[in-house]
Amino acid sequence: MASSLPSLPPVAGTDPSSSVFDAFRISIAKRVAEALHPLTIEQAYAGVDFGKKGEDFTVALPRFRLPGKVDELAKRVIDQFQADDFVASIKHDKAFLHFQLNTTSLIRETLNQIHRLDGQYGCNASGSGKKVVIEYSSPNIAKSFHVGHLRSTIIGAFLANVYKACSWEVISANYLGDWGTQFGLIAVGYEKYGSQEELKSDAIKHLFDIYVKINKDAETDPEVKVEAAKFFRRMEDGDESALKNWREWRELSVKKYEAEYDRLNVHFDVYTGESKVGQKSIDDAIKRLDEMGLIEDHEGAKLINLEKHKLGKAVVRKKDGTSIYLTRDIGGAVERYEKYKFDKMIYVISSQQDLHVSQFFKVLELMEFPWAKDLVHINYGLVQGMSTRKGTVVFLNQIIKEATTVMHEQMQKNEEKYNAVEDPEKTSEELGITGIKIQDMTAKRINNYTFNWDRMLSFEGDTGPYLQYAHVRLASIGRKNPHLLPLPPPSEINIETLTTSTHAREIAFLLGTYPDVVKTALKTHEPSGVVTFAFRLSHAISSAWETVIVKGEEDIEKAKARMWLYESARDVLAASMRLLSIRPLERM
Ligand code: ARG
Repeated sequence: MASSLPSLPPVAGTDPSSSVFDAFRISIAKRVAEALHPLTIEQAYAGVDFGKKGEDFTVALPRFRLPGKVDELAKRVIDQFQADDFVASIKHDKAFLHFQLNTTSLIRETLNQIHRLDGQYGCNASGSGKKVVIEYSSPNIAKSFHVGHLRSTIIGAFLANVYKACSWEVISANYLGDWGTQFGLIAVGYEKYGSQEELKSDAIKHLFDIYVKINKDAETDPEVKVEAAKFFRRMEDGDESALKNWREWRELSVKKYEAEYDRLNVHFDVYTGESKVGQKSIDDAIKRLDEMGLIEDHEGAKLINLEKHKLGKAVVRKKDGTSIYLTRDIGGAVERYEKYKFDKMIYVISSQQDLHVSQFFKVLELMEFPWAKDLVHINYGLVQGMSTRKGTVVFLNQIIKEATTVMHEQMQKNEEKYNAVEDPEKTSEELGITGIKIQDMTAKRINNYTFNWDRMLSFEGDTGPYLQYAHVRLASIGRKNPHLLPLPPPSEINIETLTTSTHAREIAFLLGTYPDVVKTALKTHEPSGVVTFAFRLSHAISSAWETVIVKGEEDIEKAKARMWLYESARDVLAASMRLLSIRPLERM
């Protein structure tokens, strides 16, 4: 904090050096605690909430469960109240006390902090020294990349960014569906329909085509499945001749995926997969479960009985001895703990697999791994009706392509602007991807939603393109007012010129909330709060636009202060977009 503000006592769990609002809250808590002795400052702090309807901060007195009537408690706080550089005024309303911040301090301290932290604003040190493994996306090779995978990708990338912003060491893992009986099936299919050439040009598509064809054959010819099972058995036994093709399929598919993730601004530290789970971890797990009396034999297959935990019975080993999805997840978790010694491991998997995830989490708990309690399932609802204008979507690149085309058509409608954009292809792709991501992260994760190209790619309403537009507009202020740049250091900017504008105050207040928005995202694992923040900020900026002008403002002092406000808003809007894995555009 700037030295002009009164000093404050420390409060556990707060950090005014990364959030000025912590300082304002401490100053409120201090007054409340002093007036309501024996209430501690920590207890009072926990009761300082954001206010509603134009109030900055509000304290609900009943929550402290203090003896005495609410009105008397309120009076005690009010009687002792003295305005200072933190808080300008106090208001009593029924069970609530509302506190209005000092506008000059609010604006100055918020903008100063954004400036001082230079790109790190919003970040905090809460996770320092801790490690989290986040598994997300995890498509199946040779099957379609459906919207469920897209959601996992978008939410997972967001979570990775949030944990990083909170100083966690993050390991992003993609757990490919690259193992299982279906690869026996594809192997049989490849002998019949495979082409090296097509594989090289688009592995994902070619393998998918083969998978579709051979499944069709299997419907009429029972031999196909028998052959496939035999083939997979050889793969599980490590037979090199059976693994040779599979290895190439995997490699080429990963390469292709990597390029597409790159377009989505999503990156993985490891491409692991079901194939990478060692036979030994699986055998050890089954052995241990067996010793614990949790395994039942059923016609040669092995079952784990989780009925006591209301999770049914689940096969852990097939009759022919091959492993299955569930067992691979059990063995895989053990291996990951051994490898990373994580403090937390997050699985971003659709709610359709809730039972599966509960089962393998429960099994790990029953096996008494102390880290089993550190596993977190982040689930999400279904997406209905995703198809392109040409038909059903099966591949990720179709989704990106369709979004790009729609946006490109939109952009071309304004020829002048279109011609000013350096790389319209790239820009329309980014706009399209932003539209998809925003649509996906607007509501709570668990909600289902219907994919709607028109709505998500519109420039009106709370859409991705609108958000990009808000950023582009902010980015243009500097270009249009080069005479104001570079701005002088904060100490030489006259903040007082901003304090009379309620619009400027509102923008500064929203900017001040950003560190809280990040903390809440870490707690709830919900991107929707960040999306809401980005739109509220965009709306506040858009309302300020008419009155808080920069271009045409003759008073240079005023113009510079406003410019600083907008530049700060732009920095924070961009930060919130990046947190959502969106690349903010400069022009469109
Ligand atoms: N590949 C799976 C699917 O597409 C998702 C994997 C989720 N992760 C896991 N550890 N089971 O259904």
